[in-house]
Amino acid sequence: SIVSSKYRTAFHFQPPKNWINDPNGPLYYKGLYHLFYQYNPGSVVPGNKTWAHSVSADLVNWLRLESALDRTEPYDAKGCWSGSVTVLADGRPAILYTGADDVKNQAQCIAFPSNSSDPYLREWTKPSSNPVIRPDGPGLTPNQFRDPTTGWTGPDGQWRIAVGAELDGYSAALLYKSEDFVSWSRVDHLLYSSNSSTMWECPDFFAALPGNTSGLDLSAAIPNRAKHVLKMSLDSCDKYMVGVYDLEADKFVPDNVVDDRRLWLRIDYGNYYASKSFFDAKKGRRIIWGWANESDSSSDDAAKGWAGIQALPRTIWLDSDGSQLLQWPVEEVESLRRNETNHQGIELKKGDMFEIKGTDTLQADVEIEFEPGTMDEADAFDPSWLLNTEKHCREADASAPGGLGPFGLVVLASDDMEEHTAVHFRVYKSKHKHMILMCSDLRRSSLRSGLYTPAYGGFFEFDLEKEKKISLRTLIDRSAVESFGGGGRVCIMARVYPVALVDDRGAHMYAFNNGTTAVMVSQLKAWSMKRAQVNVKKG
Ligand code: FRU
Repeated sequence: SIVSSKYRTAFHFQPPKNWINDPNGPLYYKGLYHLFYQYNPGSVVPGNKTWAHSVSADLVNWLRLESALDRTEPYDAKGCWSGSVTVLADGRPAILYTGADDVKNQAQCIAFPSNSSDPYLREWTKPSSNPVIRPDGPGLTPNQFRDPTTGWTGPDGQWRIAVGAELDGYSAALLYKSEDFVSWSRVDHLLYSSNSSTMWECPDFFAALPGNTSGLDLSAAIPNRAKHVLKMSLDSCDKYMVGVYDLEADKFVPDNVVDDRRLWLRIDYGNYYASKSFFDAKKGRRIIWGWANESDSSSDDAAKGWAGIQALPRTIWLDSDGSQLLQWPVEEVESLRRNETNHQGIELKKGDMFEIKGTDTLQADVEIEFEPGTMDEADAFDPSWLLNTEKHCREADASAPGGLGPFGLVVLASDDMEEHTAVHFRVYKSKHKHMILMCSDLRRSSLRSGLYTPAYGGFFEFDLEKEKKISLRTLIDRSAVESFGGGGRVCIMARVYPVALVDDRGAHMYAFNNGTTAVMVSQLKAWSMKRAQVNVKKG
């Protein structure tokens, strides 16, 4: 069959079979990283959600454990939905998750490890006090009330969590408080709300220090210089706002209120949803996990026997002026790199393609630095493009020469280029700065039909005087192409299903330039990526 195990990823997180969605409750505990995730144990389609559970010592190789939460109670009869883990003051972790009852009405529930000295946290108990938070109060809708955040403590020592909800038809991050993490009461104001959208799923709230790659634990003394980030999932993507957490008002206050939600910043501009971050006390960093679904048909999923992966765990931090998040695959991923290829000083004139040889093109990690000699020829930027970057990526095709760009990478290309995925940049001149468009164009990624193949895109600001080089890192993992532009300013997760991969015809990889201005590839490094041990054995 054309749909085959060849599309299974080699170093992205996925279980051996069945449907997965959101990452849940990531944490580092007693020497192990834990990842729970939404899992349908019986099928490749969504439904009957449980919390599947895996552990890892290095975020790369994963051991699959027994399910952490199953549908055992009336309040979670239709599913144990998304939520978080919080480590309490006595060191004991607690799960907060959403229970969906027989009519999918939602309430927040708690679970504790049966034995918290077990570093594997194999078994979880639901106390009889569940559900601990019901959708009581005016304006709430019982079927739009879910995905509790990790808890944090305020100056009064009390626990707080936010819950995603629709309130009077608009989106809200509701705020709840508790003395003991078990009995909760709703605070009379919201952490934040917006009337530019409806339900927010999977809110995530965290602190970060501008320009500092170290992460912060939200509960730890919140330093004055810290900024705060509120992430929400809506419109099939993960968006966020940067602001401050006003401790007195106990509210999130964004630095800029943007009414048009198409202009909200995005964690990722591709196939990426329901992300969840955690503070990694082992390495003092914040790590974010996000889900990438399949973009083939459900009959393909049935034939594959699995659907959904997690994007690579990424270190996430704030840039130095505190205006946007930056992300980079956790350094542990580099342990899979093999046989490095290294090139310097390749000049790419208009129409040039430089083939990257000696790398396993189906499982690769590539880092390129492009150095435009001049920005003089850059075309003018039109701010209206920001409203629909996918449309602009379709128009600004890799084959359409611009003043400066497109240049970038072509991956998973067949001999005749009939199949290929292009990840590329285009530089535009704006008033006082340059704007760079990054596209991950899937329109020709496969000769098969019935696939969702958009041209994803995002923009970032760029100061050539200061920065000189435009960097691209792309990780190719069979059906996953995950790219990081401008040092992690624009990230694009994509799913592709090339025929060449199934036919064992192999694929090519090229650096290219199709813009009028020549660009220098000052540095190009490529590695083959070893297969990781991902959930192959059950613990
Ligand atoms: C997001 C989501 C969550 C919910 C979960 C159910 O993908 O819809 O809001 O808790 O999935 O699996």
